[in-house]
Amino acid sequence: MGSLLNPTDGFVFTPTDFAFIRERIFALAGIRLSEQKDKMVYSRLSRRIRELGLKDFSQYLLHLDGDKGEQVLFINALTTNKTQFFREGHHFEFLAELAMEHPGPLRIWSSACSTGEEPYSIAAQLVSMGRLNDRILATDLNTQVLASAESGLYDVNEASSIPNAILKHTFLKGKGRSKGLMQPRSALRERITFRQLNLIGPWPFKQDFDVIFCRNVMIYFDRPTQKKLVERFSQHLKMGGYLLLGHAEGLEKDQRGFCSIGKTIYQKVAL
Ligand SMILES: C[S@@+](CC[C@H](N)C(=O)[O-])C[C@H]1O[C@@H](n2cnc3c(N)ncnc32)[C@H](O)[C@@H]1O
Repeated sequence: MGSLLNPTDGFVFTPTDFAFIRERIFALAGIRLSEQKDKMVYSRLSRRIRELGLKDFSQYLLHLDGDKGEQVLFINALTTNKTQFFREGHHFEFLAELAMEHPGPLRIWSSACSTGEEPYSIAAQLVSMGRLNDRILATDLNTQVLASAESGLYDVNEASSIPNAILKHTFLKGKGRSKGLMQPRSALRERITFRQLNLIGPWPFKQDFDVIFCRNVMIYFDRPTQKKLVERFSQHLKMGGYLLLGHAEGLEKDQRGFCSIGKTIYQKVAL
């Protein structure tokens, strides 16, 4: 990054500002922003500076320090929320097999659920098999994506990644003023509870899970944070339960307490 990212129509953004932002987002969310993310940070936060009518980044960072509400918006601005229905389809095939072997209710956690495509895909897979007793907890740190997940409204074009046989029983297409939108049927919505939760903060669970989805979020964390997180997942999984990670993620070879049983699928085993 140059010494000042200061276009004539923009805000002064110094390397010290950038270093402060990297330190804050790590402390608040465990996210390690690389040195190359300066332009992304500038573009996402300058919007906020403009809305607040502030002069530059250093003014914004002073405001951020004393304001918890602003910290929520800061986190919302800096998380990456890309997701898709039935992303990494082999996990849903695995879930279907597991459900066939496990007639009783499954307790599932979608732990970085973004705008909801992941938990609704889990629910769609299970409901399409006639299962109405499974419970899904869907959490994310970003309050904005969670609100969008709870509203459950999606562009119909997003349906293209949902298998046809599942789609027709599980989503409704909008008509009239809602044309172009689709939403999950109530049988799906009733399976899911949405909550805000920071993966690096306290977890208030009373019961353990059969399956934990933690996909495409650990890549933003450093090694010690990832390791600690996996240990905590293990503490909240039933013995024999499963941890599903994203395509670019995996457990260390020497990770105790889990064995790999398929691509990015790990089973909790006795130590
Ligand atoms: C790229 S999305 C992944 C969504 C979904 N799991 C998938 O694989 O399609 C990453 C999500 O992790 C969330 N996230 C980032 N840091 C987090 C943290 N410390 N605690 C909880 N969620 C976090 C972001 O808000 C974002 O919605």
